Order: sequence, then structure tokens, then C-alpha cells
Amino acid sequence: MCPQRQEWFIPLGLLLLPHLLLANIQDASDQMTVISGSNVTLKISNVIPDYKQLAWFYNDNQKIVEQESKAPKYFKSQFKDRVRLGVDHTLFIYNVQKEDSSTYILKVLKESGREISKYISLEVLDPVPKPVIKFEKTQEESNRCHLKLSCGTEGLSVSWYGDSRPFPKEIHSNVLEITVNPQNYSRSYTCQVSNAVSSKNDTVYFTLPCSLDLMGQFGVWP
Ligand SMILES: *[C@@H]1O[C@H](CO)[C@@H](O)[C@H](O)[C@H]1NC(C)=O
Ligand SMILES: *[C@@H]1O[C@H](CO)[C@@H](O)[C@H](O)[C@H]1NC(C)=O
Ligand SMILES: *[C@@H]1O[C@H](CO)[C@@H](O)[C@H](O)[C@H]1NC(C)=O
Repeated sequence: MCPQRQEWFIPLGLLLLPHLLLANIQDASDQMTVISGSNVTLKISNVIPDYKQLAWFYNDNQKIVEQESKAPKYFKSQFKDRVRLGVDHTLFIYNVQKEDSSTYILKVLKESGREISKYISLEVLDPVPKPVIKFEKTQEESNRCHLKLSCGTEGLSVSWYGDSRPFPKEIHSNVLEITVNPQNYSRSYTCQVSNAVSSKNDTVYFTLPCSLDLMGQFGVWP
């Protein structure tokens, strides 16, 4: 019998797991992406409890709020009445706007006189606009149809879908240009525009490779 030996049989995965989980939680709290109009709580973990003074900054120059021992003092800023200092040094921001995107700084002055800065990035995105598919070109020749559809605004991530499957990965441009025949045409083409917080789509319908299906198009017809 050799009891120490057992230590060697702890699966490697179990030893690594707690470390990986901690790393993920850390990342999640340091970077947030939210949709405009939402209410956000900026929270920094592990703030030392014995602080003399703390302050939240929008950036290096703009202080939002500071607290010494008494009630928090709010500074004149773009946030006006939209911020509150919460318990556990959290910063609540109501109705966030795109301009609120920044790397916020929590500065804590310790009793010892040492100052510590912690950072948290907030990215506020507007919802994507609803795309509208435009026909750039449809050209029929000997049973084949050459289709060119466009969709969405430049700078946004676009995906195209046929009636069942997405088109090959390369088509992430806002223009879909394909040649189809009666065997492989799609009865619908969907353009999906998305960003990290929202997604919208538009669909056009076809009855034949080159014929629009207006009933499908206006799906609500009797
Ligand atoms: C944000 O908070 C305010 C005040 O508590 C509330 O009225 C509003 O509905 C909240 N908005 C969202 C998007 O949750
Ligand atoms: C449909 O088939 C034709 C002829 O085989 C081919 O040229 C075309 O690329 C195909 N289109 C799609 C969308 O698969
Ligand atoms: C398109 O949007 C609708 C809701 O508006 C959703 O139900 C559907 O799944 C979306 N389709 C695709 C392909 O993203």
C-alpha cells in the first residue's frame, strides 16, 4: 500500500477547470456589450474594503462620481441624472447611449495612501436597421437565372440564407450574386444583418428560378 500514490490519479481536467472558470468570469466582467436604451451595472470585483475614497471616471479626464465617507458627490457630465453609485461600488447607468461607450475607471484610494485603478469597458451598440433586399439584376437565359441581390448597409455583418441552408461562407458581402437553374434554385432568399446585440432580416420569395412569388412576398394575402 502506498497512499500518496493516489494523488497522481486526479484527472488533469479537474485540476485545470477551476482556473479556466475564473479566467472566464474575469473576462466577462471587464468587457460588456449592450444594446442602447438598456440599464447597465458596472461592477468590479475584489475591490479592497478598507478604502478612504473611491471615484468612477468616464475616461482619464471626466469624473462621474466620488465618495469619501458621506453621500456620493456627482459631477457634471454627459450622464446628468442617469447614474447612481450602488452598493459594492457598482455604477448604475440608466438608458445607455452609444456615446456612453468607454473604458470606465474605478479609482480607489486606500487607507495607506496607495491608489488603485480598475478598468471596465462598456460598448453600447444601436440595434441594426431592418434590411431591405434590392434587386440589382435578374437575367434569364436558357433555363438559368443570374441573380444579383443586395441588402443592408456597408459596415454591417451580413449573412445570406437560401430556403433551407446558408450559402457558402464566402458570401458575407451585402451582395448575393448567383446563377441558379430549376434544379437548384431556392424558393426564398433571406438576408440577415446582425451585430453583437441585435439581428434583423428580410426575405424575398421565388416560384421559379427567375420569377418572384408575390404571394409569399406579402405573406398576409388571403
Ligand atoms: C431602466 O430602469 C428604469 C428605472 O428603474 C425603468 O423604468 C426602465 O424600465 C428600465 N429600462 C429597461 C430597458 O430595463
Ligand atoms: C446551380 O447549378 C448550376 C449548374 O450546375 C451551377 O452553375 C450553379 O453554380 C448552381 N447554383 C447554386 C446556387 O448552387
Ligand atoms: C428572420 O427574423 C424573424 C423574426 O423577425 C425570425 O423569426 C427568423 O428566424 C429570422 N430568420 C433568419 C434566417 O434569421
